[in-house]
Amino acid sequence: MRSVPRFQARRDVVPALVAEVQRAVRAGASGVPDVPGIDVGVPGVPGVPGVPGVDAGGSGSAASTAVVLTAPSGAGKSHLLRAAAERLTVPVRIAAAEEVAAARPFALAADLLGVDRPGRLPPDFADALMAALDAEIARGPVVLMVDDLQFADAESLTILAQIVALGGDAAVFLVGSRRPQPHHDLLARLLAQRGVSEWALPGLDAIDLDLLVHDVTGGLAR
Ligand SMILES: Nc1ncnc2c1ncn2[C@@H]1O[C@H](COP(=O)(O)OP(=O)(O)OP(=O)(O)O)[C@@H](O)[C@H]1O
Ligand SMILES: [Mg+2]
Repeated sequence: MRSVPRFQARRDVVPALVAEVQRAVRAGASGVPDVPGIDVGVPGVPGVPGVPGVDAGGSGSAASTAVVLTAPSGAGKSHLLRAAAERLTVPVRIAAAEEVAAARPFALAADLLGVDRPGRLPPDFADALMAALDAEIARGPVVLMVDDLQFADAESLTILAQIVALGGDAAVFLVGSRRPQPHHDLLARLLAQRGVSEWALPGLDAIDLDLLVHDVTGGLAR
């Protein structure tokens, strides 16, 4: 069973996420010396392991292929994904599932992979999506970020499961977020796949709140 970090504060999540992606992409690209663009420099984060404030529990495994942040609405998942994306120097593709998207097969995966989704879907559309990913990986490692996985259409979840199943050998890493509800069988299956870690976000602690108030008010509230 994979161990996951136990966060002492929310501010530790982004450095831990960046470190996990960095480690996984490096491992996936092993054998390819000096892959450009994957040396992620995070100020104050002295490499891996050892993200300050995080109980060293990252998977530490070369087979890590995905991390999914799980927390209720308003917990800060989207904010954290954006912050992590800004810090990564690996190319990042981002898409968010929408509540109405469940009725639109492949909508999320097409958006994520930058493929036009025709009104009439060809029978081999799934292959076209995987081909787009192959082309992307041929250019170098890529991080796929998917927000609001609880709304994902079933076909896109199947594509994401395929991507995760490529394992640590492919230079692709999935970062997702989801609310614990509504339950989705396919999403539960994705989370149970080998190489996937689910990170439950910690609650806002006093330090986070202080920083948040400072960010929002510019210190005026002090
Ligand atoms: N660290 C932070 N600093 C400043 N604002 C934050 C921070 N974390 C969250 N917020 C703000 O709190 C609100 C809720 O955060 P966010 O939208 O990321 O939650 P969420 O978990 O994605 O919710 P949902 O499941 O509804 O999409 C947003 O307005 C966001 O900008
Ligand atoms: Mg959100």
